[in-house]
Amino acid sequence: MANDASAVFDTLSPAVSKGSPADPFTPPADSSLWRKNFLLGAATASYQIEGAVNEDGRLPSIWDTFSAIPGKVLAGDTGAVACDHYHRWEADVEMLASLGLEGYRLSIAWPRVMDAAGAPNRKGIDFYKRLLNRLKEKGITTFVTLYHWDLPQHLEDRGGWLNRDTAYRFADYADLMSCELAGTVDAWTTLNEPWCSAYLGYGNGHHAPGLANDRFATQAMHHLLLAHGLAVPVLRANDPASQKGIVANIGRGTADSDSAADQRAAHLFEVQHNAWILDPLLKGSYPQDLFELWPGTEPLVLDGDMETISAPLDFLGINYYFRTNVASDGAHGFRDVPLEGVERTQMGWEVYPDGLRDLLIGFKETYHNLPPIYITENGMASDDEVTDGRVEDTQRISFLKRHLAAVDQAIKAGVDIRGYFLWSLMDNFEWAFGYERRFGVVHVDYSTQKRTIKRSAELVEKFLQERKAKA
Ligand code: FCB
Repeated sequence: MANDASAVFDTLSPAVSKGSPADPFTPPADSSLWRKNFLLGAATASYQIEGAVNEDGRLPSIWDTFSAIPGKVLAGDTGAVACDHYHRWEADVEMLASLGLEGYRLSIAWPRVMDAAGAPNRKGIDFYKRLLNRLKEKGITTFVTLYHWDLPQHLEDRGGWLNRDTAYRFADYADLMSCELAGTVDAWTTLNEPWCSAYLGYGNGHHAPGLANDRFATQAMHHLLLAHGLAVPVLRANDPASQKGIVANIGRGTADSDSAADQRAAHLFEVQHNAWILDPLLKGSYPQDLFELWPGTEPLVLDGDMETISAPLDFLGINYYFRTNVASDGAHGFRDVPLEGVERTQMGWEVYPDGLRDLLIGFKETYHNLPPIYITENGMASDDEVTDGRVEDTQRISFLKRHLAAVDQAIKAGVDIRGYFLWSLMDNFEWAFGYERRFGVVHVDYSTQKRTIKRSAELVEKFLQERKAKA
């Protein structure tokens, strides 16, 4: 695609743009975002916000264990307190509703709701019941993720995602939750970003449980996808009215030069980041190029697994953050070649909205059965500070605007995209980067737990109000 999302905004004349210089967010009048049924919400995840890790019978998760190991998380941070959402959930729901956000994507902490024998933990389940009922009362559409990386430690002790049995335990967990919560969930997502669980958790060890072996990564991925496949029919049976899907993070890889080797490297980057997950889900097979990158790492796949994994989905959740420029590593793979002079975020990630649009359009061409899409995460970290009670997160406002423009372009190119969730509702525990990286549209002061609405959230709210008024 030649079109550059940011350039489109730069060239909009004030007459066509709904926005004014004082309002750097509101999308132009012809944007699909004005469609009332385009869901705009925010996302969080249990371990990143809840805290209360030892309360009401919650068991340890792999992230409690991992973050306690010196050197694994920046500044030695852990999720022990996080945003204290477990105790402050009522005020947090009020805040979400006051911002006019229409959707909320949250996750359930598996170790909070089941004991080691697989029996329900009533207190943990009741927390989510109260939360989801309140969200329903507020008219907020709920997307509930069953697994956002906080595997119960007792399952990791038995091999975690390297053990096929974990997939069956996950189906039991999905069974319990969908029986308990049916009617309060609009959309279930089985897994958040299996790429991160498999690769960062078992392939390079940057995330819990911290193992580093490519063969482990492919086997863990297979069991994660199997867990998803086993859970979907269970969710369908217990909660037929809700939508069922999965969330994949996707990465744009571009080649550092026109050479065939670098072009191949960029292709392999996208195979490793995207096709590794999407091919089994949507084509029922693993991409063979993956095993060119990691020779000899084919997972053990039993008869029927690929059919289980590739059963139809109601929607696909897509998380997108940045692109990676790569060159051939001279052997089977690719190496990062960071571009100079490009805009980056506090994470060092390049701001590249076109990558989102191009990938979405590419998926529509590659996968003829591509389900409707929700962007389940998109956002950026910045070093936000509260000054005189305000947080002017200018870069985030521009980031969001440009990525929403990219989404609009993909919609106009025929991709069925139904909604977008900001990552994140509030600053939170950013995994290996702890509390230093602030992704929220609401600022959290971790010493007082005070929430401060950032300028980005105010502008999103203003847009949603305008949209409502027009409807
Ligand atoms: C994604 C995770 C989410 C958050 C963002 C920044 O990979 O799903 O929990 O950490 O990155």
